[in-house]
Amino acid sequence: MIKLSLCSVIDRTYGIEVRGTCGAIIAHCESISKIIIVEISVYHTPESTPENQVPDCAVVIDVLRATTTIATALDGGAKSVKAFSDIDLLLADSEGLSPTERLRLGERGGKKVESCDMGNSPLDCTPEMVKDKQLFISTTNGTRALQRVQNADVVITGAMINYGVVVDFLAEKQPNNVWLVGSGWEGGYSLEDTVCAGAIASSLIKNDNIEMIGNDEVVSAIALYQQWQHDLVKLFTLASHGQRLLRLDLTDDLKYCAQENIIQTLPIQQGKGSLLFKAL
Ligand code: MLT
Repeated sequence: MIKLSLCSVIDRTYGIEVRGTCGAIIAHCESISKIIIVEISVYHTPESTPENQVPDCAVVIDVLRATTTIATALDGGAKSVKAFSDIDLLLADSEGLSPTERLRLGERGGKKVESCDMGNSPLDCTPEMVKDKQLFISTTNGTRALQRVQNADVVITGAMINYGVVVDFLAEKQPNNVWLVGSGWEGGYSLEDTVCAGAIASSLIKNDNIEMIGNDEVVSAIALYQQWQHDLVKLFTLASHGQRLLRLDLTDDLKYCAQENIIQTLPIQQGKGSLLFKAL
Protein backbone atom coordinates (compact mmCIF):
# COMPACT_ATOMS: atom_id res chain seq x y z
CA MET A 1 0.00 0.00 0.00
CA ILE A 2 1.31 3.49 -0.89
CA LYS A 3 1.76 5.59 2.24
CA LEU A 4 1.60 9.35 1.63
CA SER A 5 2.49 11.48 4.61
CA LEU A 6 1.40 14.89 3.48
CA CYS A 7 0.08 15.94 0.12
CA SER A 8 -2.05 18.57 -1.50
CA VAL A 9 -4.55 18.66 -4.29
CA ILE A 10 -6.16 21.56 -6.11
CA ASP A 11 -9.94 21.34 -5.80
CA ARG A 12 -10.94 22.76 -9.17
CA THR A 13 -14.58 23.10 -8.14
CA TYR A 14 -13.91 25.55 -5.36
CA GLY A 15 -10.50 26.65 -6.64
CA ILE A 16 -8.94 25.87 -3.29
CA GLU A 17 -5.79 23.97 -2.44
CA VAL A 18 -6.50 21.12 -0.05
CA ARG A 19 -3.52 20.08 2.03
CA GLY A 20 -3.32 17.31 4.53
CA THR A 21 -2.99 13.63 5.06
CA CYS A 22 -4.41 11.24 2.51
CA GLY A 23 -7.27 10.51 4.88
CA ALA A 24 -8.16 14.19 5.05
CA ILE A 25 -7.99 14.53 1.25
CA ILE A 26 -10.19 11.51 0.74
CA ALA A 27 -12.69 12.73 3.35
CA HIS A 28 -12.84 16.09 1.56
CA CYS A 29 -13.36 14.49 -1.83
CA GLU A 30 -16.07 12.30 -0.39
CA SER A 31 -17.83 15.36 1.05
CA ILE A 32 -17.68 17.07 -2.35
CA SER A 33 -18.94 13.90 -4.01
CA LYS A 34 -21.99 14.09 -1.75
CA ILE A 35 -22.74 17.45 -3.34
CA ILE A 36 -22.01 16.67 -6.97
CA ILE A 37 -23.24 13.15 -7.53
CA VAL A 38 -25.66 14.45 -10.08
CA GLU A 39 -24.38 15.18 -13.55
CA ILE A 40 -27.03 16.87 -15.68
CA SER A 41 -27.07 16.95 -19.47
CA VAL A 42 -29.61 18.65 -21.72
CA TYR A 43 -30.65 17.28 -25.10
CA HIS A 44 -32.89 19.46 -27.25
CA THR A 45 -34.42 16.51 -29.14
CA PRO A 46 -34.64 12.73 -28.71
CA GLU A 47 -32.50 12.41 -31.83
CA SER A 48 -29.64 14.38 -30.23
CA THR A 49 -29.24 11.97 -27.31
CA PRO A 50 -26.16 9.67 -27.39
CA GLU A 51 -26.99 6.43 -29.22
CA ASN A 52 -27.05 3.07 -27.44
CA GLN A 53 -27.00 4.74 -24.04
CA VAL A 54 -29.58 5.60 -21.42
CA PRO A 55 -29.07 7.66 -18.27
CA ASP A 56 -29.81 6.63 -14.69
CA CYS A 57 -32.68 9.09 -14.79
CA ALA A 58 -34.34 10.67 -17.82
CA VAL A 59 -36.63 13.67 -17.55
CA VAL A 60 -38.73 13.98 -20.71
CA ILE A 61 -40.01 17.49 -21.46
CA ASP A 62 -42.74 18.46 -23.95
CA VAL A 63 -44.13 21.70 -22.54
CA LEU A 64 -46.41 22.29 -25.56
CA ARG A 65 -48.15 20.02 -24.74
CA ALA A 66 -47.65 16.29 -24.06
CA THR A 67 -45.90 16.34 -20.65
CA THR A 68 -48.13 19.19 -19.49
CA THR A 69 -51.14 17.03 -20.44
CA ILE A 70 -49.79 13.88 -18.76
CA ALA A 71 -49.13 15.73 -15.47
CA THR A 72 -52.52 17.49 -15.61
CA ALA A 73 -54.38 14.22 -16.24
CA LEU A 74 -52.68 12.38 -13.37
CA ASP A 75 -53.21 15.40 -11.12
CA GLY A 76 -56.90 15.24 -12.11
CA GLY A 77 -57.15 11.66 -10.85
CA ALA A 78 -56.47 9.58 -13.95
CA LYS A 79 -55.35 6.05 -12.98
CA SER A 80 -52.51 5.98 -15.49
CA VAL A 81 -51.28 7.32 -18.83
CA LYS A 82 -49.72 4.95 -21.36
CA ALA A 83 -47.69 6.44 -24.21
CA PHE A 84 -47.49 5.25 -27.80
CA SER A 85 -45.70 6.69 -30.82
CA ASP A 86 -48.05 4.70 -33.06
CA ILE A 87 -51.82 5.34 -33.15
CA ASP A 88 -52.74 1.83 -34.35
CA LEU A 89 -50.85 0.28 -31.44
CA LEU A 90 -52.68 2.67 -29.10
CA LEU A 91 -56.09 1.63 -30.48
CA ALA A 92 -55.24 -2.08 -30.29
CA ASP A 93 -53.76 -1.89 -26.77
CA SER A 94 -56.77 -0.01 -25.37
CA GLU A 95 -59.39 -2.14 -27.13
CA GLY A 96 -59.76 -4.42 -24.09
CA LEU A 97 -61.17 -1.64 -21.94
CA SER A 98 -64.70 -0.25 -22.20
CA PRO A 99 -65.10 3.40 -23.25
CA THR A 100 -66.09 4.26 -19.67
CA GLU A 101 -62.78 2.95 -18.34
CA ARG A 102 -60.43 4.56 -20.87
CA LEU A 103 -59.65 7.69 -22.85
CA ARG A 104 -57.70 7.78 -26.11
CA LEU A 105 -55.71 10.98 -26.70
CA GLY A 106 -54.27 11.37 -30.19
CA GLU A 107 -52.57 14.43 -31.74
CA ARG A 108 -50.75 15.03 -34.99
CA GLY A 109 -49.65 18.49 -36.12
CA GLY A 110 -51.44 19.98 -33.11
CA LYS A 111 -54.79 18.55 -34.22
CA LYS A 112 -56.94 15.74 -32.80
CA VAL A 113 -56.62 12.35 -34.49
CA GLU A 114 -60.05 11.24 -35.80
CA SER A 115 -60.03 7.77 -34.27
CA CYS A 116 -59.32 9.12 -30.76
CA ASP A 117 -61.63 10.52 -28.07
CA MET A 118 -59.59 13.67 -27.53
CA GLY A 119 -56.64 15.60 -28.85
CA ASN A 120 -53.71 16.59 -26.64
CA SER A 121 -55.11 19.61 -24.84
CA PRO A 122 -54.36 19.73 -21.09
CA LEU A 123 -57.50 21.86 -20.70
CA ASP A 124 -59.63 18.89 -21.81
CA CYS A 125 -58.16 16.74 -19.01
CA THR A 126 -60.52 17.97 -16.32
CA PRO A 127 -61.02 15.81 -13.17
CA GLU A 128 -64.59 15.15 -14.37
CA MET A 129 -63.22 13.80 -17.67
CA VAL A 130 -60.21 11.79 -16.51
CA LYS A 131 -60.90 10.62 -12.92
CA ASP A 132 -60.27 6.87 -12.43
CA LYS A 133 -59.74 6.34 -16.16
CA GLN A 134 -56.79 4.80 -17.98
CA LEU A 135 -55.46 7.19 -20.60
CA PHE A 136 -53.70 6.19 -23.80
CA ILE A 137 -51.76 8.95 -25.55
CA SER A 138 -49.92 9.41 -28.84
CA THR A 139 -48.51 12.75 -29.97
CA THR A 140 -46.19 14.04 -32.70
CA ASN A 141 -43.03 14.38 -30.57
CA GLY A 142 -43.57 13.89 -26.80
CA THR A 143 -44.39 10.19 -26.93
CA ARG A 144 -41.47 9.61 -29.33
CA ALA A 145 -39.15 11.21 -26.75
CA LEU A 146 -40.56 8.95 -24.04
CA GLN A 147 -39.92 5.95 -26.25
CA ARG A 148 -36.29 7.02 -26.80
CA VAL A 149 -35.44 6.79 -23.07
CA GLN A 150 -37.96 4.16 -21.95
CA ASN A 151 -35.17 1.81 -20.84
CA ALA A 152 -33.60 4.21 -18.37
CA ASP A 153 -33.80 3.06 -14.74
CA VAL A 154 -36.04 6.00 -13.94
CA VAL A 155 -38.16 8.03 -16.37
CA ILE A 156 -40.15 11.03 -15.17
CA THR A 157 -41.84 13.83 -17.08
CA GLY A 158 -41.36 17.55 -16.61
CA ALA A 159 -43.20 20.68 -17.73
CA MET A 160 -43.42 24.29 -16.51
CA ILE A 161 -46.51 23.40 -14.47
CA ASN A 162 -44.68 20.77 -12.35
CA TYR A 163 -40.89 21.25 -12.66
CA GLY A 164 -40.62 22.00 -8.93
CA VAL A 165 -41.45 18.40 -8.03
CA VAL A 166 -38.96 17.22 -10.67
CA VAL A 167 -36.25 19.27 -8.93
CA ASP A 168 -37.25 17.91 -5.49
CA PHE A 169 -37.17 14.32 -6.81
CA LEU A 170 -33.70 14.73 -8.34
CA ALA A 171 -32.33 16.52 -5.26
CA GLU A 172 -33.65 13.73 -3.05
CA LYS A 173 -32.71 10.73 -5.23
CA GLN A 174 -29.42 12.15 -6.59
CA PRO A 175 -29.10 9.82 -9.57
CA ASN A 176 -25.54 9.79 -10.95
CA ASN A 177 -26.46 11.10 -14.35
CA VAL A 178 -29.58 12.82 -15.51
CA TRP A 179 -30.73 13.64 -19.02
CA LEU A 180 -33.18 16.49 -19.52
CA VAL A 181 -34.62 15.49 -22.90
CA GLY A 182 -36.62 18.01 -24.90
CA SER A 183 -39.12 16.65 -27.42
CA GLY A 184 -38.57 19.43 -29.97
CA TRP A 185 -40.60 19.41 -33.17
CA GLU A 186 -39.92 16.63 -35.70
CA GLY A 187 -36.22 16.62 -34.85
CA GLY A 188 -35.92 20.40 -34.56
CA TYR A 189 -35.07 22.58 -31.54
CA SER A 190 -37.87 24.04 -29.37
CA LEU A 191 -37.62 27.09 -27.12
CA GLU A 192 -40.34 25.94 -24.72
CA ASP A 193 -38.69 22.60 -23.88
CA THR A 194 -35.24 24.18 -23.48
CA VAL A 195 -36.49 26.91 -21.13
CA CYS A 196 -38.06 24.19 -18.95
CA ALA A 197 -34.78 22.25 -18.93
CA GLY A 198 -33.13 25.53 -17.89
CA ALA A 199 -35.59 26.01 -15.02
CA ILE A 200 -34.80 22.53 -13.70
CA ALA A 201 -31.02 22.82 -14.16
CA SER A 202 -30.82 26.29 -12.64
CA SER A 203 -32.69 25.04 -9.56
CA LEU A 204 -30.18 22.21 -9.06
CA ILE A 205 -26.85 23.65 -10.19
CA LYS A 206 -25.78 26.15 -7.57
CA ASN A 207 -22.69 28.42 -7.62
CA ASP A 208 -21.83 27.41 -11.21
CA ASN A 209 -20.93 23.96 -9.87
CA ILE A 210 -19.27 22.92 -13.15
CA GLU A 211 -18.95 19.34 -11.95
CA MET A 212 -22.68 18.97 -12.44
CA ILE A 213 -22.73 20.40 -15.97
CA GLY A 214 -22.77 17.47 -18.38
CA ASN A 215 -22.81 19.45 -21.62
CA ASP A 216 -22.88 23.00 -23.03
CA GLU A 217 -26.60 22.76 -23.67
CA VAL A 218 -27.11 22.98 -19.90
CA VAL A 219 -25.53 26.43 -19.74
CA SER A 220 -27.52 27.74 -22.70
CA ALA A 221 -30.75 26.33 -21.26
CA ILE A 222 -30.09 28.09 -17.94
CA ALA A 223 -29.34 31.34 -19.79
CA LEU A 224 -32.61 31.05 -21.74
CA TYR A 225 -34.57 30.53 -18.52
CA GLN A 226 -32.86 33.42 -16.75
CA GLN A 227 -33.67 35.64 -19.74
CA TRP A 228 -37.33 34.68 -20.11
CA GLN A 229 -38.51 33.40 -16.70
CA HIS A 230 -40.66 36.49 -16.17
CA ASP A 231 -42.38 36.39 -19.58
CA LEU A 232 -42.87 32.77 -20.62
CA VAL A 233 -46.11 33.46 -22.49
CA LYS A 234 -44.21 35.91 -24.71
CA LEU A 235 -41.46 33.34 -25.31
CA PHE A 236 -44.01 30.67 -26.21
CA THR A 237 -45.74 32.96 -28.70
CA LEU A 238 -42.34 33.47 -30.37
CA ALA A 239 -41.74 29.70 -30.46
CA SER A 240 -42.57 27.95 -33.75
CA HIS A 241 -44.86 25.38 -32.11
CA GLY A 242 -46.45 28.14 -30.04
CA GLN A 243 -47.33 29.89 -33.28
CA ARG A 244 -48.71 26.61 -34.66
CA LEU A 245 -51.03 26.35 -31.65
CA LEU A 246 -52.08 30.00 -31.99
CA ARG A 247 -53.01 29.36 -35.64
CA LEU A 248 -55.24 26.54 -34.31
CA ASP A 249 -56.86 28.99 -31.82
CA LEU A 250 -55.26 27.21 -28.85
CA THR A 251 -54.19 30.41 -27.03
CA ASP A 252 -55.62 29.17 -23.72
CA ASP A 253 -53.56 25.98 -24.03
CA LEU A 254 -50.39 28.02 -24.54
CA LYS A 255 -51.16 30.24 -21.52
CA TYR A 256 -51.94 27.21 -19.34
CA CYS A 257 -48.67 25.48 -20.34
CA ALA A 258 -46.66 28.64 -19.47
CA GLN A 259 -47.67 28.62 -15.80
CA GLU A 260 -44.96 27.65 -13.29
CA ASN A 261 -45.48 24.97 -10.64
CA ILE A 262 -49.25 25.04 -10.36
CA ILE A 263 -49.34 21.28 -9.56
CA GLN A 264 -47.26 18.96 -7.37
CA THR A 265 -47.82 15.79 -9.40
CA LEU A 266 -44.81 13.86 -10.72
CA PRO A 267 -45.53 11.31 -13.48
CA ILE A 268 -43.11 8.35 -13.22
CA GLN A 269 -42.72 5.30 -15.47
CA GLN A 270 -43.91 2.06 -13.91
CA GLY A 271 -41.07 -0.29 -14.73
CA LYS A 272 -38.40 -0.11 -17.45
CA GLY A 273 -39.80 0.07 -20.96
CA SER A 274 -43.47 0.04 -19.89
CA LEU A 275 -44.24 3.59 -21.10
CA LEU A 276 -46.95 3.45 -18.43
CA PHE A 277 -46.97 6.49 -16.18
CA LYS A 278 -48.60 6.98 -12.79
CA ALA A 279 -48.38 9.76 -10.23
CA LEU A 280 -45.49 9.19 -7.78
C1 MLT B 1 -46.02 16.97 -29.43
O1 MLT B 1 -45.89 15.83 -28.98
O2 MLT B 1 -45.43 17.35 -30.40
C2 MLT B 1 -46.91 17.97 -28.81
O3 MLT B 1 -47.32 17.52 -27.61
C3 MLT B 1 -47.90 18.36 -29.80
C4 MLT B 1 -49.05 19.14 -29.26
O4 MLT B 1 -49.74 18.67 -28.40
O5 MLT B 1 -49.27 20.24 -29.69
